[in-house]
Amino acid sequence: MSIDFKGKVAIVTGAGGGLGRTHALELAKRGAKVVVNDLGGSVDGLGGSSEAANKVVAEIKAAGGEAISNGSSVTDETAVANLVKQTMEAFGRIDILVNNAGILRDKSFKKMEVADAKIVLDVHLMGSFICTKAVWPIMSEQNYGRIVMTTSPSGLFGNFGQANYGAAKLGLVGFMNTLVIEGKKNDIRINAISPVAATRMTENLMPKEMLDKLGPELVTAGVVFLCSTDAPNGSILQAMGGQFHVAAVMENEMVNLGEKATADDVAANWAKISDLSKARVRPK
Ligand code: NAI
Repeated sequence: MSIDFKGKVAIVTGAGGGLGRTHALELAKRGAKVVVNDLGGSVDGLGGSSEAANKVVAEIKAAGGEAISNGSSVTDETAVANLVKQTMEAFGRIDILVNNAGILRDKSFKKMEVADAKIVLDVHLMGSFICTKAVWPIMSEQNYGRIVMTTSPSGLFGNFGQANYGAAKLGLVGFMNTLVIEGKKNDIRINAISPVAATRMTENLMPKEMLDKLGPELVTAGVVFLCSTDAPNGSILQAMGGQFHVAAVMENEMVNLGEKATADDVAANWAKISDLSKARVRPK
């Protein structure tokens, strides 16, 4: 086992079940002291209890690891400040933050209420913003930090019924892109995971034979790499059933239509402007 987290402290949000649980278990197995955060609500974000987080802490301890539990909502600034305080008091530093907590409010855009978007954006995007903001000064001071955003194929490519969720998930990529630039001087590296896995979130969306091949621990393998000292910076890692590839925002070369360019010129040159055959990733 070469990647190890001895002496490192990790916070994993939404770690009471699903992907967050396997991330927390694996980080702890590899030596990290882990803060297991989970509000303990339903998939659509209702209710809450510390039971789920407590159970994962018990699992980590039973396997010989170190962990503490936290039942805060990632959307609550004061509660997140307390989560960070609790972590610092217990373990003295914060090296890793996995922003994993999430909910769904799926509906076709026609039927979606603005409230369905606000709550989903709040948990995924603002929740990740609030947690990242809370650990940022500590990581900057330490000159070390590894942060993982949890994006989604729905954000990268779109999915019926997930206008709210897709917006939140791609928003996290935009958030990451700027943090990569600002975190560089303090060796804070930020990456995104785009998972597909069998969890309560997907249990009704795919047939059993497919779900059986999509263990969350196969996504965790990618997340643990993104949390490691040798992590890349600014990558979007797609992980599903043991298959891994990156996604990226790319651009092609500029087509110069001159200072008098009109809409008709854009139309006439559309084939050239939209030709992605030589597209590349912009260096950061
Ligand atoms: P899950 O429902 O098992 O896990 C989400 C966890 O977040 C739950 O334990 C929930 O209690 C917790 N949570 C929800 N709101 C919270 C809040 N305000 N504060 C703290 N904790 C909160 O689902 P899963 O699949 O494990 O999802 C984990 C992440 O992966 C989510 O961000 C999800 O959007 C993302 N994802 C999952 C995919 C999949 O195929 N399972 C696909 C793409 C993205």
